[in-house]
Amino acid sequence: MSTSINTETLIPTAPPDSSSLTFSGLVERLNAQTSPPALEEISSWLANVEISPLDVEPFVGFKEGNYWRHRVCRNEAVEMLIICWRPGQKTPIHDHNGSHGVVRVHKGLMWETTFCYEEERGLCYNTGRECPTGTVTGAGVPDIHQLGNPEVSGQDLITVHVYAPPLGVLKTYKVGSAQVDLYTPNDFPT
Ligand SMILES: [Fe+2]
Repeated sequence: MSTSINTETLIPTAPPDSSSLTFSGLVERLNAQTSPPALEEISSWLANVEISPLDVEPFVGFKEGNYWRHRVCRNEAVEMLIICWRPGQKTPIHDHNGSHGVVRVHKGLMWETTFCYEEERGLCYNTGRECPTGTVTGAGVPDIHQLGNPEVSGQDLITVHVYAPPLGVLKTYKVGSAQVDLYTPNDFPT
């Protein structure tokens, strides 16, 4: 007696799940943007995209002196970066100077601190929180924040960032000071 298998049942007939997005599919989608996508839209993409170790491998590299930004794609509307952080490495306190952005923690533990700025008091601490692997967090305009890999994490950190429009010159701040400086992120090791 033989058993027959209806091969038709093995062929998926359902429409593609809109919630599943591959890393290369997201890059294609970003490259196709002709105007900056909304914060909510970027958040949804980064929350739903599946990212494997192989996807990020070409963009993984660490420096001892500072975190290292690796650009995945960029056009006039949007850019994607993968940032690699050793324990203790962190950004300056900054805003995005008119861009909005979303971060997804690919691997490791990210610490995010947010601040507020008042003309009279200068920069004030607002909140701080731990973002473990899988966290997706967005920053609108004019959010001021600092991201980093806490020294005590004991592990490297890899994060995926999408900014719209792409980041140019950023403003940086100091706690308790009204002084605002300009900062241009550097993509290349020096
Ligand atoms: Fe930022």
